[in-house]
Amino acid sequence: MPEAERTASRLPRIAVLATGGTIAGTSTPGDGTSYAAGAFGIDQLLAAVPGLAAIATLQAEQIASVGSQDMRHDIWHALATRVAALCEDEQVDGIVITHGTDTIEETAYFLDLVIPPGKPLVLTGAMRPATALGADGPANLYAAVALAGHASARDRGALVLMNEHIHDALRVQKIAASGLAAFASPDRGIAGVMEGDMPLFYQPPRSHGGVWGARPRMPLAEPAQWPRVGVLHAHADMQADVAEFMAARYQGVVLAGVGNGNASAAAMRALADAAARGVAVVRASRTGRGYVGRGVEVDDDELGFIAAAALSPQKARVLLMLALMSTNDRATLQSWFDAQ
Ligand code: SIN
Repeated sequence: MPEAERTASRLPRIAVLATGGTIAGTSTPGDGTSYAAGAFGIDQLLAAVPGLAAIATLQAEQIASVGSQDMRHDIWHALATRVAALCEDEQVDGIVITHGTDTIEETAYFLDLVIPPGKPLVLTGAMRPATALGADGPANLYAAVALAGHASARDRGALVLMNEHIHDALRVQKIAASGLAAFASPDRGIAGVMEGDMPLFYQPPRSHGGVWGARPRMPLAEPAQWPRVGVLHAHADMQADVAEFMAARYQGVVLAGVGNGNASAAAMRALADAAARGVAVVRASRTGRGYVGRGVEVDDDELGFIAAAALSPQKARVLLMLALMSTNDRATLQSWFDAQ
């Protein structure tokens, strides 16, 4: 809804979907370090945020109550199905999802890939539990609702709001295990900031087009049918056995490689053998920044690999899993990674 309309006619209607996380966590008062995630329901969380009723009309649903280390594909499926329905609901102007911060970037990117851009879709969480001194959840939730009710958040796909910063789902990463400044969008920067309840975008909406954007999105198959894709972390003195173990059990393996998506000769040989047997192997980097280019350091054509381009290993896993539902053609897969 345009800003002028928002003040002149009615408040935006925002659907809030809760999944758990530290934002809904309890701790001993004064102790923000040991806590139980996902203890409070969404109605309690919303009631703890002053001023929400002045900026939006809210409808709330509890989709799950998990710490996001336990986020599962069946919850992703339920979330995506619900978000797709809310996108069709003309009464709803925007959607907010509360989520644990540990895997929020994966859920955001998953939704970004399966839900066409349009209605504002904002994920948020908290680094401190709801009962901690200086809890960040209420401010994040307030800002997320304000952002989801704003017209400038439309057509941007999934966004992540943390600590007043607005991140594109494609770029955002949790970069710190503790502290409030735990999120960044490395290399390309944040999408914008919140000034109170007003979003200021620094970057135009990114393209959701290209070959991947043109493919059909929801509905997805039942999660039991989703291909198994795992992440293999490279390190010094890496042996072949762990690569062989994964390749025997997974349809896709993402290498969180050293440097430019590399690993020991033994591990790379095992992965090349797996690729020759039809396992989709993607080379990403464990460094957290930069670009893994096709053919750089590693002969991807010869070994049958796909280069992750700008995607982190955890996001490469999400794209590869969804992509394998449509094709295992290496050139097509590479073009989808290049389009991110
Ligand atoms: C979680 O991801 O659920 C726990 C950590 C957090 O939310 O900050």
